[in-house]
Amino acid sequence: MTKKPETYFSTKAGRMVQGDSLDVLKSLKAGSVDLIMTSPPFGLVRKKEYGNVAADEYIDWFRPFAEQFHRVLADHGSAVIDIGGAWNQGMPTRHLYHFKLLIMLCEEYGFHLAQDFYWWNPSKLPTPAEWVTVRRVRVKDAVNTVWWLSKTPWPKASNRRVLQPYSQAMRDLLENGYKAKKRPSGHDISDKFKKDNGAAIPPNLIAIPNTESNSFYLRYCQEQGLTAHPARYPAELPEYFIRMLSDPGDLVFDPFAGSCVTGEVSERLKRRWVCVELIEDYLKGAIGRFEREIVCTDRHAGDPDDDGNYYRVPHPGILWNGAAGDPLPADGGKTRPASVRTAKKKNTGKPASNGDARSSRAAVSAAAKD
Ligand SMILES: C[S@@+](CC[C@H](N)C(=O)[O-])C[C@H]1O[C@@H](n2cnc3c(N)ncnc32)[C@H](O)[C@@H]1O
Repeated sequence: MTKKPETYFSTKAGRMVQGDSLDVLKSLKAGSVDLIMTSPPFGLVRKKEYGNVAADEYIDWFRPFAEQFHRVLADHGSAVIDIGGAWNQGMPTRHLYHFKLLIMLCEEYGFHLAQDFYWWNPSKLPTPAEWVTVRRVRVKDAVNTVWWLSKTPWPKASNRRVLQPYSQAMRDLLENGYKAKKRPSGHDISDKFKKDNGAAIPPNLIAIPNTESNSFYLRYCQEQGLTAHPARYPAELPEYFIRMLSDPGDLVFDPFAGSCVTGEVSERLKRRWVCVELIEDYLKGAIGRFEREIVCTDRHAGDPDDDGNYYRVPHPGILWNGAAGDPLPADGGKTRPASVRTAKKKNTGKPASNGDARSSRAAVSAAAKD
């Protein structure tokens, strides 16, 4: 039995609680939370060290949380859930649990899907190695789904809080003018598109590399001899939604706090916050986030002309050169390529994995978030 939730650390604006978030949720007043911002343990076909739930049991496990999320949210509130997918064990096919979760939340608990977002991690390694780099029958899995749910169809929100610099093409267009006309798609591109609004409305694809390696948090964990949380999200992810969906002074709640990234960002953005985590070791490290002055700044304010602030996505056709390409494997890749089988015989017997240190078996079941 887990012990009664207790405040582990607090600031003027927020608190970290150690315990089961279901108990904490039950103690909150109905309608008292403005934003739930969280990344729950992902459903996995192979368990990870922080106690993930088996993908097949995930929906049943989540139901009591879903009920409480809906109860504690204000009518103008949102729940944002970052959740990676999983691969079926030993198969180049995807589990459906994160889609089932979304459908359950909407159809059984009355949430609205305000918008689906996709967090692309440009620095993701090519996994699962067996399907991606060995048999070459899938592409790399580098996107997490982020479900933005709301209690009513009209949660408070403004995209003006998350604007992006105009692309060079748009800047050229604004400078040189544009001929208003109907596009082949039928969209009427009117004169209004010539108006310089100062910045662009972003798409629902968010590009953030998950490559934190020298942060205050990591140095703190190292100095204190603590293990850093193995599945942190980058601060920009909660920051995006906290900015867009809440105001200073609002209450942000993270029921699966991990290393309390949500709390740190909320503190910086002057929101009130409550972060709940079951495992004390993660909270020990999380305290490090608050051991320095947290200043409310636009930390990432950057130069829109600096190429380093952008990720470039190639057009898929760049390398299509009219050639037919290699023949497709007639069995869909069921048999490992002959070259890999021969290499395996000649070597130590370990499966070849094209530079990826993990065994093919592990790679098959590794979830989207490493
Ligand atoms: C994916 S991690 C969250 C990571 C976090 N977003 C971060 O960036 O550090 C999920 C966390 O939920 C915690 N957890 C799982 N069940 C919980 C529960 N019932 N109450 C509180 N925390 C729970 C796990 O221990 C794990 O640390």
